[in-house]
Amino acid sequence: MIIAIDGPAASGKGTLARRIAQKFGLTYLDTGSLYRAVAASLLAAGGNPADEAAAAAAARDVVPGSIDEATLRRDDIGQAASVVAAQPAVRQALLDTQRRIARTGSGAVLDGRDIGTVVCPDADVKLFVQAEPEVRAERRYRELSERGQTANYDNVLRDLRERDARDRERAQAPLKPADDAHLLDTSKLDIEAAFRAAVDIIERHNET
Ligand code: CDP
Repeated sequence: MIIAIDGPAASGKGTLARRIAQKFGLTYLDTGSLYRAVAASLLAAGGNPADEAAAAAAARDVVPGSIDEATLRRDDIGQAASVVAAQPAVRQALLDTQRRIARTGSGAVLDGRDIGTVVCPDADVKLFVQAEPEVRAERRYRELSERGQTANYDNVLRDLRERDARDRERAQAPLKPADDAHLLDTSKLDIEAAFRAAVDIIERHNET
């Protein structure tokens, strides 16, 4: 079984995807961490995220899991990730890795922006997780503060809107729900309620 979970930044898709993978005994892949790793290795080498050739080379060399989580989750790395992610050569370089992981064992849960539309268009279940920008900014602000990073709510909201726009408006694999995706708005749901709603959708699908 392949489950595709897409949605904008801080919509809650990562937490949801991890818990769903655990419940159904599936591999979990956070595809955003691949784009973040490309951005982090490029910046560490003094490269420019807008340089498509350099970003594509970094994408071809990326080793999943090779960069520590604290670095990957930094806000500046998230912004740079959305710049490298707009480049077709970068997306192409990461496609095979994502599809190979999706096919491991009894299947996988992948979360990202284009899983249901491009990476796994034949996924068994597709969820598109969304939430109001202010709710997402509040979540991201709390996350960054808990990690000890200095954060300012207004800046977090502004950065999030900027990244949403870049992800939605890019020509290649823009952020949008697949035609057959189930929409899940988590603005008023806590983690537990969002998880129950997602499990309901998956179990309903498995019964048919
Ligand atoms: O955790 P958060 O939702 O903030 O971001 P992420 O999922 O780690 O993704 C970081 C950036 O990578 C996004 O803003 C996208 O530009 C890009 N990305 C993408 O283009 N396609 C994916 N399948 C996953 C991430």
